Amino acid sequence: MPNFQTKVLCEPCYPAVFRETLFEFSAVAENGEKLIKVAMQGESFFIKVVQKKDKYLIKGDKITRPSQAGLLQRALVDFRDMTQSKEIFSNIEPKKSLHVKSYDQLKSIDYFAKDFVIDKEIWVEIGFGSGRHLLHQAKKNPDKLFIGLEIHKPSIEQVLNLCAIHGIDNVLVVDYDARLFLEFLSSNSVGRIFVHFPVPWDKKPHRRVISKDFIEESIRVLKLDGRIELRTDSDTYFEYSFGEFAKLNKMSLNVRKNANLEITSKYEDRWRKMDKDIYDIVFINEEVSPEKEKIKKLFFDKGCDFSKIKVHFDNQTIRGDGFFVHFEELYDINENSGFIKLSFGASERSERAYVFISGEKMSYFPDNILASNGNSKADNLIKEWINGICS
Ligand SMILES: C[S@@+](CC[C@H](N)C(=O)[O-])C[C@H]1O[C@@H](n2cnc3c(N)ncnc32)[C@H](O)[C@@H]1O
Repeated sequence: MPNFQTKVLCEPCYPAVFRETLFEFSAVAENGEKLIKVAMQGESFFIKVVQKKDKYLIKGDKITRPSQAGLLQRALVDFRDMTQSKEIFSNIEPKKSLHVKSYDQLKSIDYFAKDFVIDKEIWVEIGFGSGRHLLHQAKKNPDKLFIGLEIHKPSIEQVLNLCAIHGIDNVLVVDYDARLFLEFLSSNSVGRIFVHFPVPWDKKPHRRVISKDFIEESIRVLKLDGRIELRTDSDTYFEYSFGEFAKLNKMSLNVRKNANLEITSKYEDRWRKMDKDIYDIVFINEEVSPEKEKIKKLFFDKGCDFSKIKVHFDNQTIRGDGFFVHFEELYDINENSGFIKLSFGASERSERAYVFISGEKMSYFPDNILASNGNSKADNLIKEWINGICS
């Protein structure tokens, strides 16, 4: 994270404009940490001032980090020059040769919430690893759109590079927890969901990809006769998954042992060398599901008296069924307005954001938090907590 350190810091009165950067206001936490709201080139974000024993550390804020490369460094340079600070350490000068590789086929979750429209059948692969199976299927089925989900960054980069080298353009890659992704897809739009050699999580079964919720969401997104294809070397995972499918009221399952596929993955090669058994469960969907609305953004429709929030605020974590909210810190702008720093969302994946609170208005900052299942449950709890104090 870009930052600089200085022994003396002379801040201006806010709002202050320097070059083309607007420093709107500052907000201070009880522990002395300060957030300064910056607006430049159409983006808004915070920089942070942390007072140490004999110096100030001025750095970017991870939660509101701007999307344009180099913007944060420029804001820090402008802040340093505006305050005429003498650096004792700095890494904020933008690097001339900074080149961050970007991939068209790497998509953020926002893309699926906002812009994703497709007239092709979708096939999904969960935890594609080296990508052998994903790329083989994509080449073989050019009329399908493949969505590959993976959380291991080197595997993601490797597969994106292979797509570029081999001219494979019917694959989109998403760095997102597969247990939470399917809710972003339309009902009846998916032909196949491949789950090949998922991590068995013998000691932490709640982390498994296959679960009751995952199967229900899969049924919603699968077309009639669409399939989930699970392949595993773990007899425990096989038995567990069979049990989860069998809980359905009605289902069609095919089970095979040591069947050969057209392509083997790295993991499969390893298990075969060790003469391990390999199990397949193929679930065939027999339902047509109702359509589901696109996932929108979370918002507040009223404000709250900040001074009341201040009296009741406590660093605490509240947990519910599959979600949590951690009220982390409170920052005052003045008596009547300020921010709460939060982490919240599904237990599998948390969001971090601030809530801006003033008498008339409340809003998330950044304001692009998606109303996924886990986030919506957490949002309800946040609103209940705030309303409980304000009403
Ligand atoms: C054992 S490897 C199997 C990789 C590949 N399918 C194969 O057969 O070689 C499991 C992969 O799933 C990925 N993974 C684990 N949990 C995941 C999750 N919740 N969402 C997406 N990917 C996940 C891991 O990063 C890992 O690459």
